[in-house]
Amino acid sequence: MKRHIRFSESEPALLLLDQRFLPDREKWFVCRRVQDVIAALQDMVVRGAPAIGVSAAYACCLGAASLDPSDRTWQKRLDEKLDRLSRARPTAVNLQHSVQRMRRAWKADPDIPLADLRWMWGKLAKDIHNEDIVANKAMGRLGQELIQEGWTVMTHCNAGALATGGYGTALGVIRAAKSAGKTVGVVANETRPFLQGARLTAYELQQDDIPVRVACDNAAALLMSRGLIQAVIVGADRIAANGDTANKIGTYGLGLLAQAHGIPFYVAAPISTIDTRAESGEDIPIEERTAREVTHVQTTRVVPEGVPVFNYAFDITPHRLITHIITETEIMSPPFDQNIARAVREA
Ligand code: MRU
Repeated sequence: MKRHIRFSESEPALLLLDQRFLPDREKWFVCRRVQDVIAALQDMVVRGAPAIGVSAAYACCLGAASLDPSDRTWQKRLDEKLDRLSRARPTAVNLQHSVQRMRRAWKADPDIPLADLRWMWGKLAKDIHNEDIVANKAMGRLGQELIQEGWTVMTHCNAGALATGGYGTALGVIRAAKSAGKTVGVVANETRPFLQGARLTAYELQQDDIPVRVACDNAAALLMSRGLIQAVIVGADRIAANGDTANKIGTYGLGLLAQAHGIPFYVAAPISTIDTRAESGEDIPIEERTAREVTHVQTTRVVPEGVPVFNYAFDITPHRLITHIITETEIMSPPFDQNIARAVREA
């Protein structure tokens, strides 16, 4: 897949392949200010925890570029922009980690002139982007060992190139299995209401010639009971210190179904998705999105006017349902609390 997050230093501008229009149209969304990136994150122009983190790093660069070095309050104004950016979406911890990393680099030299900060941040944002791709590929190399020849793997939402700096976490493992010469099929759950599975996962895998079939979310139990699925592999928005994992709404149900059918359940995520400040899933904030995503399919209303809906964007899969967590450094097994603490220390 081509790069879907591009930064032009000369303008400066952040160009995002607009995921709201895929697979029909490849349109680019241009961000010139931090506020544009916040809007892009909230409106799902770009989504997926690592991709949110990468976009946020470039947003910091736009923030620094928009300030006037002769304005004595530029530092305060920049801090405010970073605070607003950190709050754009609450569940994906990569957003906060990325902004924290940019801020830490700045505060390590608090008197740095604005021109030097722009230069330093430009380099750091590119590093964050490239590190994510490198981590995805490492995760793929390690994780593909778990996938056997001829398996059909179920995935939920989109944890592919479009959800990361490039390559993908869950889909990265599948891509790597293909590169290792294995024949692997994928069932992409459609993932109501935003349809990341039907629109984005199917789009990516089709481009890479990986056999993919889209299933309604409510078909998972039947497919598993018929022996059509050999493993479930998903990404993550935040992993707590005990291994509880926040991911797209519906993931928890898949964990329960996988356990009931004796199917392994893998989470693929970079170390940057681990939040050791969250002791368990109870400490992870769950984003609630606008009712309109559920009441309407595109522009058509499908729920009677006045009927309230639930639109939680994520759920928590308890660690006991997870067989392995695939990171860029290891395939982690239970007990996750101990192994996560060690992996984070070593990273
Ligand atoms: O609401 P989204 O589309 O941002 O949710 C994305 C997911 O749930 C992904 O599975 C997760 O961020 C991992 S992406 C590598």
